[in-house]
Amino acid sequence: MTHIVDLRSDTVTKPTDAMRHAMVNSAVGDDVYGEDPTVNALERKIAAMLDKQAALFVPSGTMANLIAVMVHCSQRGSEAMVGNMSHIFKYEQGGAAHLGGVLLTTLENKPDGTFDLDEFEKRIRGSDIHEPVTAMVAVENTHNYCGGKVLPQSWLDDLYARAAKHSIPVHMDGARLFNACAAQRSEPATVVRGAASVSICFSKGLSAPVGSVLVGDCHFIQKARRLRKMLGGGMRQAGVLAAAALVALDEVVPNLEHDHRRAQVLATTIKSLCLKNFTVDLQNTQTNILLVRIPESSPITADKVVQRLAQVCLSETQGDCKTADDEGVIVKAIYFNSKTIRFTLHCGIEDEDLWLAIMKITFVFKEFEASV
Ligand SMILES: Cc1ncc(COP(=O)(O)O)c(C=O)c1O
Repeated sequence: MTHIVDLRSDTVTKPTDAMRHAMVNSAVGDDVYGEDPTVNALERKIAAMLDKQAALFVPSGTMANLIAVMVHCSQRGSEAMVGNMSHIFKYEQGGAAHLGGVLLTTLENKPDGTFDLDEFEKRIRGSDIHEPVTAMVAVENTHNYCGGKVLPQSWLDDLYARAAKHSIPVHMDGARLFNACAAQRSEPATVVRGAASVSICFSKGLSAPVGSVLVGDCHFIQKARRLRKMLGGGMRQAGVLAAAALVALDEVVPNLEHDHRRAQVLATTIKSLCLKNFTVDLQNTQTNILLVRIPESSPITADKVVQRLAQVCLSETQGDCKTADDEGVIVKAIYFNSKTIRFTLHCGIEDEDLWLAIMKITFVFKEFEASV
């Protein structure tokens, strides 16, 4: 028998008892006709929280981002500027080009998830007949690939002002917007105040089973609603899903800071081991995502470490690396590249799981350290 601590992603979270109860008892209707009272309640609530006019419930974060790009870049061949480390660019199959005829061009993300704003302004195109027309810019908050980084409000406000000067709408991929708000103790409406559109996921750290929302003004959401239908995202009695999302706002959002605290504890412990081959940046572990870096010069690779964390050896169960019931411990993690391991904390991880994960990670990291 083994005890599994799954730190691959916050998408592995499962609906809570309160969510399951709400799902069973939710009032539903046909949402394509706009008649699902629970979906309507969720859309109204989120729009109000973000101080925007309207919202649209969609099946996934990928679809929310795609619809946003397709609305802002409705003229085929328009350009959307995105970070080179953004989810939209790296992990959404180029859907904007595939389905929207949109040219994605990249601004280089800095380690904190931002990009150079002078560069952004310089790169805006459209006045020359040879060029595509820049029709939007996207940011990601928190920034997944940069390790759950919260975009600084001063930087965001500067971006909002500069983009407005050029009439370029800003889309925020806020899959983890509530993590950003919890980390900097800000209201969501403040963080998104200059954004024309925002996407938020309920199926990540918020623990709901399915669903994202796209938020913006009425005109934007009207167009988004048409595109959702075209993309096959028109759901019918979707109130069973929206019910879980509504519970998430009351039950899970207020507790996100515990995930951040646990990420800090894990980061601090790894740092205190003072290992040459595994480093963490404590100050830059801001939310629920922790990146462990392996120096380029090290012969150790992240995939091997992730593989080893998922195995239990005899030396562990015969020694001290086990649960009180003598079970071996598996820690599931992912690697971003050959030198970066990602651990993600979420509400499925209690303090006891954290301590078991720390025990196992310490054991495995020391084993690798001794082997080189
Ligand atoms: C920042 C960010 N945006 C968008 C998505 C896409 O969400 P989904 O998996 O619901 O399509 C993810 C998924 O992990 C993400 O991390």
